[in-house]
Amino acid sequence: MLNALWIGYETGPVRDRRDLHSNPSPYFRKAFTLMELPKKATLTVSAIGVYKAYLNGSAVGEDYLSPGWTDFHRRIPCVAYDVTALLQKRNAIGVILADGWAAGFLFLSRNCYSDRIWLAAELRLEYADRTEYIRTDKSWKAHDGAIRRSDLYAGEYIDARLSLGDFSAVDYDDSAWEPVESAQGPLKLWQESAKNCWNMRLEPAIAPPTVVKHRLQPTLLLRDGSRAVYDFGQNFTGVLRCTLRGERGATVTFRHAEIMDGDRLYTENLRKAEATDTYILAGGGDETFRPLFTFHGFRYAEITVDGKAEVSDLVGECMYSDLAQTGDFTCSDEVVSKVFRNALWSNRDNFLNVPTDCPQRSERLGYLGDAQIFCKSAMYNMDCDLFFRKYLADIRDAQYGNGAMPAVAPLPHVGSFDFAGWSVAAGWAEAIMVIPYTHYRMYGDPRVLIDNLPAAKRLLDYYDREAGGGLRSGEREFGDWLSVGVTTEHSLLANLYYAYGAYLTAEMCRIVRDPEERYYRALFSRIRRDFRDRYWRGGRLQSDGRLDGNVAKQYFEGDVPSGDTQTAYALAYRFGLLTADEARDNLVRKVEEADRHLTTGFLGVKYLLPVLCDLGRSDLAYAILTNRTYPGWGYSVVNGATTVWERWNSYTQEGGVSEKSMNSFNHYSLGSCVEWMYEYCLGIKPKTSGFGSVRIAPYLDRTGRITSASGHYRSYAVSWRREGDRFFCDVSLPKGANAEFDFPGMTVTDRAEDDSGIHFILECSK
Ligand code: BGC
Repeated sequence: MLNALWIGYETGPVRDRRDLHSNPSPYFRKAFTLMELPKKATLTVSAIGVYKAYLNGSAVGEDYLSPGWTDFHRRIPCVAYDVTALLQKRNAIGVILADGWAAGFLFLSRNCYSDRIWLAAELRLEYADRTEYIRTDKSWKAHDGAIRRSDLYAGEYIDARLSLGDFSAVDYDDSAWEPVESAQGPLKLWQESAKNCWNMRLEPAIAPPTVVKHRLQPTLLLRDGSRAVYDFGQNFTGVLRCTLRGERGATVTFRHAEIMDGDRLYTENLRKAEATDTYILAGGGDETFRPLFTFHGFRYAEITVDGKAEVSDLVGECMYSDLAQTGDFTCSDEVVSKVFRNALWSNRDNFLNVPTDCPQRSERLGYLGDAQIFCKSAMYNMDCDLFFRKYLADIRDAQYGNGAMPAVAPLPHVGSFDFAGWSVAAGWAEAIMVIPYTHYRMYGDPRVLIDNLPAAKRLLDYYDREAGGGLRSGEREFGDWLSVGVTTEHSLLANLYYAYGAYLTAEMCRIVRDPEERYYRALFSRIRRDFRDRYWRGGRLQSDGRLDGNVAKQYFEGDVPSGDTQTAYALAYRFGLLTADEARDNLVRKVEEADRHLTTGFLGVKYLLPVLCDLGRSDLAYAILTNRTYPGWGYSVVNGATTVWERWNSYTQEGGVSEKSMNSFNHYSLGSCVEWMYEYCLGIKPKTSGFGSVRIAPYLDRTGRITSASGHYRSYAVSWRREGDRFFCDVSLPKGANAEFDFPGMTVTDRAEDDSGIHFILECSK
């Protein structure tokens, strides 16, 4: 483990917390000579901030924005690189630092974890007979350079006239560089003053590194004098790269936006995120523009040249955690296929070290509610094993001493803003049960349950104390966030999730053989009984219509909340509080009242289609899914979406942008129908954890809206099509797979097997 001195270099006074911009980036350098080449050399780097590391003139990794984002008061990640092949007799290490999440502007303030940035690095040299180390210490040198400021939200400002050149090259002349400062003193102070940092430790980064995963070519949308606007055809997260050639001092400005407003970039929804990069040319040859320490969420880029400069080779570099895609889906309805692809893109765009709500505005926080609702969709799309283990560590770090759970993790220490006021929101807090349980079902490692069970129990203990042995009051709730029409009453939602949390905790106990399983089963039964006593009246879910909590008042003034909503019935059935017979007619009635449209927000959206199928109404699921009209998934697609919108009506061709202060065009939560596409439309589901055995049970569309679908999760592939009254379904499985088949509502008339898989012919059951 990294055991080096933390070093820093002051390039300006400590920035005010309200300042959107950072100081210039410090550059560090250490030259050294080896007597012989080691068998193995590993460079381990960490920063309170973000870094980019180089050795002998080359970048040591393809990663950006490492070591990522954690609550730096609790754990500081470090990243190890095998640099054996890069070493020579004479060497130099170079590292650039920037504020990143640790000291940069985050949500409402900068300096959330530290007001200074620091570097620690260690090169471990393994020889046949010994191990040697080169570590950050007072012999390293530092200087400021071309990056005059760099912030995640504001963007990067590069003055190439101040470039240090190839500063990690062996023969680089660093005689004008200055000594570094050791952080031991300041860090100790910081450690003492930062609240709750008794637990702070350095540890290997868990999540895969953030890398460039795709490169997009733009088309020129318009040119107007020295200003050009490009369209990448896809809303994505990342940065631009291009070649610049021109006179010294010419300035090129790069602005980013998700949508256009006529000829103008629409940036009103970015809040404080300036999302602007600037490059001042050094002149005299080709220069590469590629910001290192920022990212933007955008589809359109505006490039303005002041002075003489030419831009060429423009590409968009899409960045996210290096996760392999494991699933895919397509079907006969192009709009539905596009819904899937949009959700996959929003998944990519928001999985940059932490599952964020959105990648563009000055928020980009790790909302627990969004993450838990979408986690299963994500686990089908991509191999999220390590990504979610890391995020679960962030959630555990964020839990308050009394067991309450905030709405976001990592928790930014934002100063005056009280995240505690945003705690124990139903459906957000329970991420600590839902994500580990889903992870276990998908990937099969009970360690994830063992690691998170204590935190789950502490949350339930908090609820028990708060509820005094009764039901939760439903304060501080976000509710069924951004639902349509009547708001689902908050206390009802709080108690649905209270029960579900108890159920999942009991399940976690069962799996890891924890003796408290019985206690949590009893707790679930008790909440269920109380829930039914309070809300189940006259064959409907009814509430007393109260709307509790500040957040609620702020957003839903004038609304009379109810228990009689799609979300309430879908959740109550799925969480085991209503029986199928109790839920079915009610849910169907709510769907019919909405003219076969959904009304669900963030909490209901994931459950609506699966529950309709489970209740025998897959016809309604297909009707809702294939709608093009508001509110529904298809509506965003026919209005031009390339990612999932935050709101069902974020934008319309006629009305434009519906709201500017909270309106992202890249928010995955409402895309959690993806899990249904895998588990119900294709019918691929783990029967036992980690796909030890699989259940293939597609709900073929009997309504005729979708006539074929195909896709896969890893090497479980399903493809079906309708021809007249008959359905053909082909399944291919990995060798030795233990599979069980079911075709709800269908009768199998023929089954054959060959090298390509198993082939079924089916008819609708009478
Ligand atoms: C975020 C959401 C989040 C919500 C409620 C919003 O500002 O963007 O995704 O879940 O707040 O906490």
